[in-house]
Amino acid sequence: MNLVFLGPLGAGKGTQAQMLREREGIPQISTGDMLRQAMAEGTELGRKAKAYVDRGELVPDDVMIGLIEERLRQPDTRRGFVLDGFPRTLPQAHGLDRFLRAEGRTLDAVVYFQISDETIIRRLSGRRVCRKAAHIFHLDSHPPRVTGRCDFDGSELFQREDDKEDTVRHRLEVYHQQTEPLVEFYRSRGILEAIDAEADIDVVYERLRRILSARVESH
Ligand code: AP5
Repeated sequence: MNLVFLGPLGAGKGTQAQMLREREGIPQISTGDMLRQAMAEGTELGRKAKAYVDRGELVPDDVMIGLIEERLRQPDTRRGFVLDGFPRTLPQAHGLDRFLRAEGRTLDAVVYFQISDETIIRRLSGRRVCRKAAHIFHLDSHPPRVTGRCDFDGSELFQREDDKEDTVRHRLEVYHQQTEPLVEFYRSRGILEAIDAEADIDVVYERLRRILSARVESH
């Protein structure tokens, strides 16, 4: 299936996309992870993105659209993909449409993770991410087996620079202003599937699985 995960920071998009990848083999395409990797490697993209990401601003649309087009040209995405963190603006959504249309591909569903601002702040203050492969943990709701180490690859867990409280509040404003309009955009096309993302991780996954099975059956 070709999917977009839409929703605010900390809603659990990355967590659920990683579970789908591990259990169903659908590639997770996280623009946030791609940018953080480029920043860690000090590539030209990384240098360009750093000032935006650290301040909680969006990286310019043309940069992001180019990045996604390049990734979607890779053969592993032919069997399906989950876009996690893209599109985030109307121009990005139009760019994605144009690209998929030209390739004869379509989106099957846009899953909208609904969650309160209050829960977001709590989730992001406890989030820890692994250095090696960006596996996601939480100090309370999803702690690693060994403190400070990733369960999957043993690499160090760290707190993202943009998870500091002031930056989180600014990212939320940016989300409400620039990304939330995409909810109506995709609802009007009949492909939006809202999911209550306040529940526990496994409960949300079960809801997600049911939504996706229903979509598959209706096609
Ligand atoms: P990005 O990395 O995409 O950040 P985000 O969308 O803000 O999303 P998050 O990663 O913060 O949250 P998530 O929903 O994935 O939650 P997670 O599963 O980790 O983007 C970062 C930056 O890159 C942007 O600010 C921007 O600068 C730039 N960027 C990226 N894409 C861009 C684009 N398209 N255009 C322009 N700029 C772009 O979960 C959060 C925490 O909660 C974790 O600790 C997790 O363990 C825990 N958790 C998850 N689910 C649950 C649950 N059900 N119950 C309890 N805890 C849970």
